[in-house]
Amino acid sequence: MKAAGESLATQATVDFDAQAAVALARCQALARFTEQPGQILRTFLSPPMEDCHRLLSRWMEDAGMHVANDRAGNLRGYYPAATESATTPRLILASHLDTVPNAGRYDGILGVVLGLSLVEALCGCRRNFGIEVIGFSDEEGVRYGVPFLGSRALAGTLGAAQLARKDANGVRMAAALGDYSAAHPGAVEAVLHPRARGYLEFHIEQGPLLEEENLALGVVETIAGQSRATVAFRGRAGHAGTTPMPLRRDSLAAAAEWLVSVESIALKTPGLVATVGRILCEPGAANVIPALTQCSLDVRHADDAVRRAALHEILASAQTIAAQRQIAAEPTVEHDHAAVALDPALIAIVESAVRHAGVRSTRMVSGAGHDAMILAAHLPAAMIFLRSPGGISHHPDEAVHAEDVATALRAGLSFLDLFESHLFSKNRESEPPVCTT
Ligand code: GLV
Ligand code: MN
Ligand code: MN
Repeated sequence: MKAAGESLATQATVDFDAQAAVALARCQALARFTEQPGQILRTFLSPPMEDCHRLLSRWMEDAGMHVANDRAGNLRGYYPAATESATTPRLILASHLDTVPNAGRYDGILGVVLGLSLVEALCGCRRNFGIEVIGFSDEEGVRYGVPFLGSRALAGTLGAAQLARKDANGVRMAAALGDYSAAHPGAVEAVLHPRARGYLEFHIEQGPLLEEENLALGVVETIAGQSRATVAFRGRAGHAGTTPMPLRRDSLAAAAEWLVSVESIALKTPGLVATVGRILCEPGAANVIPALTQCSLDVRHADDAVRRAALHEILASAQTIAAQRQIAAEPTVEHDHAAVALDPALIAIVESAVRHAGVRSTRMVSGAGHDAMILAAHLPAAMIFLRSPGGISHHPDEAVHAEDVATALRAGLSFLDLFESHLFSKNRESEPPVCTT
């Protein structure tokens, strides 16, 4: 088996600063693939996602990986082990390639690019496990209003309810996936490889805590649970000039009152975050009283009981406000994902790897959702956070320090060594790594 000391020889041959510069340039290059000129927006199965796959595939192939799309629109690059057999284990390095509207360049994308960088850092060396780098097709849920479509496909939890959903153009998810498969006859089945033994996701923190603690890296221990819902307020359209105020059934005014109540419920509940991020109002004319207002709702907390109680209170408050205004409120809960604890053994390995990289880290709760929370139900999963300057994310000013990226890569390479020891320490012997170049 490869001794921990041998990793130092590999570490010594890698120029992590240069690799970090390449990784950042790649994130910049991928940012130009967008549905919205002047901004970054890349959604599930969109043409810019295809462009993004083309460029990433080229880089992956240059790094000696076998590349394929799967039928859920995920990009999958495989770097084979020293010897491949029916028992060869694999490690997954993954994150997502879709974005929110007017996004930054790093949320998700950096994790995929760093997976590729780690393969490149092996300089042709083969390990006793294969490495699969996955770029998930959807984590943000922008196109269909429900998140994690790529990772849920792998986990086998993309069900009929999701597949029946329509996008803003009325295209059902099942039809979009059918068209995608027809256009990609070489696409492989969207399943998790049966011998995947570990999952590691690099991601920007998207919050201010690491910067506050002057730390480059954090190790995620738990990912907060999240609920997503839509609340439709149904009032009555009317003439803006002739309908007296007491006779109005204004759905948007009801929604406005509810928004303030969502905020106060979140403010009085420690650790709770609640967001109404999208409002659609019909018929949408300046001189017509709004008949229908549909609001999105996103509620998160590390404690599922607290989150569910808050969701209940928030939805009840929509009913109360609507009743007082003699209109209807119709809530639909679309997504409920429990908080997820990541794998203790893998967390310990990540912490050792970060120590090998010469820096301190801290254990953290992630308020943001990540593909790791879907995969964690199926295999040991861990995450490394990189400090987010200013805590800014889901914003074009999202950034990451080049030196933190270099440190993350240094830790990542140590992780590969430690993961290999962990895999083979119990009851198996393995060959030393093989260098093909
Ligand atoms: C993903 O960015 C999320 O909404 O947490
Ligand atoms: Mn995001
Ligand atoms: Mn993300």
